[in-house]
Amino acid sequence: MVDDVTAERIASQIEDSHLHGAPLRREAMILLSALDDYDWSGIYRLEGGELRLDEYVGAPTDHDRIPIGRGVCGTAVASNSNQIVADVSALDNYLACSTKTKSEIVVLVRDPLGGILGQIDIDGHRAGAFDHTDEHMLERIGAALSRRWE
Ligand code: SME
Repeated sequence: MVDDVTAERIASQIEDSHLHGAPLRREAMILLSALDDYDWSGIYRLEGGELRLDEYVGAPTDHDRIPIGRGVCGTAVASNSNQIVADVSALDNYLACSTKTKSEIVVLVRDPLGGILGQIDIDGHRAGAFDHTDEHMLERIGAALSRRWE
């Protein structure tokens, strides 16, 4: 959960940034990683029919390529919907990046026609860390990234 003032501060910083493309995505992940519970903050791009890891802040992960339908990330694409998972240990279809991760949120980044460009993926070490306040902020950040995706 993120409070309104923090969400506004982070989202407007990305919207007002002079950066584009990967440097803008990196700036966004750095800002997000400073928030409580944002223990791993990354972007996957949808390319060649799979998700490919792009900019991230946090521990290195083996999951740098994820097929559509696999894990929380692949499920978001397959179901064309954001995912908020309060307890990842309850999932069968889960790809663990870290044994410390307890909850996860994936928000799709879309082009102006609604097509999927990629996603923002956040892992938290606390169960139930994320809710619709995070989703709304990440959607706003995703829209800003989408306009300068490259
Ligand atoms: N947990 C994700 C994989 C990506 S890592 O969290 C960085 C999943 O189940 O798709």
